[in-house]
Amino acid sequence: MNELLQILGSALWFILPAYVANAAPVVLGGGRVIDGGRRFIDGRRIFGAGKTVRGFLAGLAAGTLVGMLQGIATGSLSHYLALGFLLALGALMGDLLGSFIKRRLGIKRGSAALGLDQLSFVVVALLAASPLAPLGWEKILTIIVITPPIHLATNFGGYKLGFKSRPY
Ligand code: CTP
Ligand code: MG
Repeated sequence: MNELLQILGSALWFILPAYVANAAPVVLGGGRVIDGGRRFIDGRRIFGAGKTVRGFLAGLAAGTLVGMLQGIATGSLSHYLALGFLLALGALMGDLLGSFIKRRLGIKRGSAALGLDQLSFVVVALLAASPLAPLGWEKILTIIVITPPIHLATNFGGYKLGFKSRPY
């Protein structure tokens, strides 16, 4: 039990910059869209209207800031700063990849794609951070298992608070 809680805590601590990077655009995003309204060869939008430049940059800044705070708290500033940046960049790229795949499948912007919506950001974040912080399988598995319920719960909270128009 104690050991389980410890793995859970260290998994959350590790992945926190990715969570913040993924959530920040919901509040801070808007304006110019990343794909500039352009369409892919299938005639559908590349990423769609839900992916904005400001959201991307705000997520990158917010996730990196969390890494910086973790670095200050632990006395390993450069390590956590780099880790925060990589986790945030990976999370945002993974989120873009998720939207790219959704558009290719003909799923409209904002419509749900169970699994893809909750996991694409965290999988790419883990990949991006792996050269700097190789993780054990327990931690990777823990992160993969806890992320979908946390993502759904925070999205529901964002909906209740009026930041999102949909509860998922
Ligand atoms: N957002 C943003 N820029 C990003 C990512 C997200 O501005 N790079 C904002 C948008 O307002 C978006 C909201 O955060 O609507 C929620 O993000 P997400 O659920 O990932 O986008 P969806 O609108 O659901 O679009 P998609 O179907 O492509 O997932
Ligand atoms: Mg969505």
